[in-house]
Amino acid sequence: MKRRDPPNKGATGRPLHGRGSETKSQTKQPHFSKNKKRSSSWWLTCLKIFGLSLLVVYVTVPFIIRLFPVLLAKVVYLNMVKVPFFVDTRQPGEILNHTTSFYLTPEEGITVGVWHTVPTSRAEEAKGKDQSWYEAALSDENPVIIYLHGNGGTRAVDHRVQLMKVLSASGFHVLAIDYRGFADSTGEPSEEGVTEDSVYLYQWVKARSRGSPVCLWGHSLGTGIATNAAKTLQERGNPPDAVILEAPYTNIREAGAYHPFGKIYHMFPWFEYFFLDTFALSNNVFPNDENVKVLSSPLLILHAEDDQVVPSSLAKKLHETALMAPHSREVKLVLFPAALGYKHKFIYKDPKLPGIIWNFLNSI
Ligand SMILES: *[C@@H]1O[C@H](CO)[C@@H](O)[C@H](O)[C@H]1NC(C)=O
Repeated sequence: MKRRDPPNKGATGRPLHGRGSETKSQTKQPHFSKNKKRSSSWWLTCLKIFGLSLLVVYVTVPFIIRLFPVLLAKVVYLNMVKVPFFVDTRQPGEILNHTTSFYLTPEEGITVGVWHTVPTSRAEEAKGKDQSWYEAALSDENPVIIYLHGNGGTRAVDHRVQLMKVLSASGFHVLAIDYRGFADSTGEPSEEGVTEDSVYLYQWVKARSRGSPVCLWGHSLGTGIATNAAKTLQERGNPPDAVILEAPYTNIREAGAYHPFGKIYHMFPWFEYFFLDTFALSNNVFPNDENVKVLSSPLLILHAEDDQVVPSSLAKKLHETALMAPHSREVKLVLFPAALGYKHKFIYKDPKLPGIIWNFLNSI
């Protein structure tokens, strides 16, 4: 208020102002607009500081990522995002019927949470049954699908649960794992670790499923885990009966180049050096392309053409690579037209999906 005084004094000090009202309006108006000016310049300063901070963050992040590749690994897995918060993964009954939750110990000190959903045809029997009934049910000759989910969130994320429902209704057992560090599983994720967890689950199922086919199904980041696990199983003499890749990439480096996160840095100089090359430094390769060259298991690739997280061009490239491999085995690519709107995670909505999977499994 004091700062207002000088102009006031100046105005009233002018000899030519006779009428009080005029003086008032003439003296007040300048104060008012000056105040407005001051507040708008305050906003401008704030905006400048904000913009400058954003710029500093934008420029600093690449250096920090390159210096601490482990931070990039955190983005790859996003396992600290434990959504949905309101679902207790130990109580799947609230969102998924005829399902049991149990734990496996793939390695000393590591326990991983797994859901087993039996085929809907066995729903009535499953009511009130304990873990041993579910385990025994694996040998009922219905095919088994091991679902390896993508990054972020738990096995209770809605699009994952919806797919499990579709697969269960189509006559499959579904086993959905939360890798180490995810959901209620202990430990920290690494490419080697999440691959080992999946290999362990496959072997655990295979030891109980008798002759039923057991198939690895990976989605998004999980496709890299699926082909890694398939390769490991093959090297140990037990290739998986089939591999299904939903929305796969060629390798994590190339997926990163197209990912929406990466796009804001596309014009940043040395984008490849700062980000893409750092994947390998963080020990994350997920080489789907290298893996499909050596896998002997039948392969089905599913991809939506309007996928904006992993473009379908990568699935086409992966399919080409798989076809060039020396092994002769079934390799199939199914693209879902953009008009269907399935994007990155809604292929489960396609009414033809059960038929596509059964046809594939019947052809191998
Ligand atoms: C479980 O099945 C019952 C019918 O048996 C149904 O009413 C209920 O909505 C189902 N629950 C879930 C979570 O799907």
